[in-house]
Amino acid sequence: MRLLLTGARIIDPAQNIDSRMDIFLEDGKIAKIGENLSKATKSKDSEKITKIVDLTGMILVPGLIDMHTHLREPGFEYKETIASGAAAAAAGGFTSIACMPNTEPINDSRSITEFIRRKATETSLVNVYPIGAVSRNSAGSQLTEFWDLQEAGIVALSDDGKPVMNAALMRRAMEYAFSLQLPVISHCEDINLSANGSMNEGYYSTILGLNGIPGIAEEAMIARDILIAEFTGTSVHIAHVSTAGSVRLIRDAKKRGIKVTAETAPHYFTLTDEALQSYDTNLKVNPPLRSEQDVAAIKEGLADGTIDVIACDHAPHGRTDKEVEFEYAANGISGLETSLALSLNLINSKILTWPELIAKMSTNPARILHLPKGTLETGADADITVIDPLLKWTVDVQAFRSRGKNSPFNGRQIQGKAILTIVGGEIKYDGR
Ligand code: DOR
Repeated sequence: MRLLLTGARIIDPAQNIDSRMDIFLEDGKIAKIGENLSKATKSKDSEKITKIVDLTGMILVPGLIDMHTHLREPGFEYKETIASGAAAAAAGGFTSIACMPNTEPINDSRSITEFIRRKATETSLVNVYPIGAVSRNSAGSQLTEFWDLQEAGIVALSDDGKPVMNAALMRRAMEYAFSLQLPVISHCEDINLSANGSMNEGYYSTILGLNGIPGIAEEAMIARDILIAEFTGTSVHIAHVSTAGSVRLIRDAKKRGIKVTAETAPHYFTLTDEALQSYDTNLKVNPPLRSEQDVAAIKEGLADGTIDVIACDHAPHGRTDKEVEFEYAANGISGLETSLALSLNLINSKILTWPELIAKMSTNPARILHLPKGTLETGADADITVIDPLLKWTVDVQAFRSRGKNSPFNGRQIQGKAILTIVGGEIKYDGR
């Protein structure tokens, strides 16, 4: 398949490219990028047919990468399967996703990793990279076989959903993983401090009569992991940062040269705990939605580079998980299909430039996970996302490819959408 994409504004932070150009894809790779390629590609090999797509007015970027997705297979297929999650990813503009291990059974073994990879290959939509558990059954007491898991195909380690409470175990995990060049992704939550909480601890938890989760539940563990990374000379990636204190800790650590990277999710810069007055369980997420000051600090952290990545934390759930009393509702937002549009708001409000946003949604996750992705360099895999930045649309969860209809953004008018998702040179989603 030969594809010539013409007339788009091409942005590739990895090569410092931001200009109107053409891009030519052949045999699954990026063959050429430059101006007026239509003549060049025609003369090259007249026998082969080249499909030409005019993308005037569109933005073309290296395929978006979500480094924090929950696919629920095996174990919770009613919430999401690998196929439905991959379809949601493609529709949201993601060409690659890394999936967390909190399935049933937990992905703490070669066989589960291989199962996920096999299913993903059969689905043949987007690249799916499994993340293995840090501890057996994510129980926090015994490390998994990192090397065996890496050979089976994991790209990172995490007990996400559950924190690694034992600091000694986390130290060993970070040392062992570092020697294998495997990133450790830390779900930072001190469960003694967050115990029984179902929303941010503050004014709104008081007036709503719900148990609160204080910001220090997150910050205390971020401080611990930064200290371990400094002490051992290793690195750590902090998942779903939600508080001003966390941003401050990570910023200071980076200034001191500690190898820490961080991500946040669109809901942490879009919503505050004030919204929970509706008692809508679709707003229940862990860590919880925080205060206005926290949201402002997250935006500052994104703008100054403290936060490297925007990840969805796509957490699909079924109706029975969410249509219950607030305390009993499952945590999570189905995010793959709204993440891009919500993140584009950061450009409209002048917090990020286009290249900065694309770096956080493609270049940086590729770098942190050591994936040969996130660039439009000649010879790279032809993973591409084409965005219509002006397209206005209304979120309709019933139209989601994801089985998880749990989005607090249902009914919201948003702007900007992936209209083409190309993986390995093949169009996997066409929303034109
Ligand atoms: O809201 C969340 N949902 N936070 C997590 O850490 C886990 C996730 C899930 O698996 O549903």
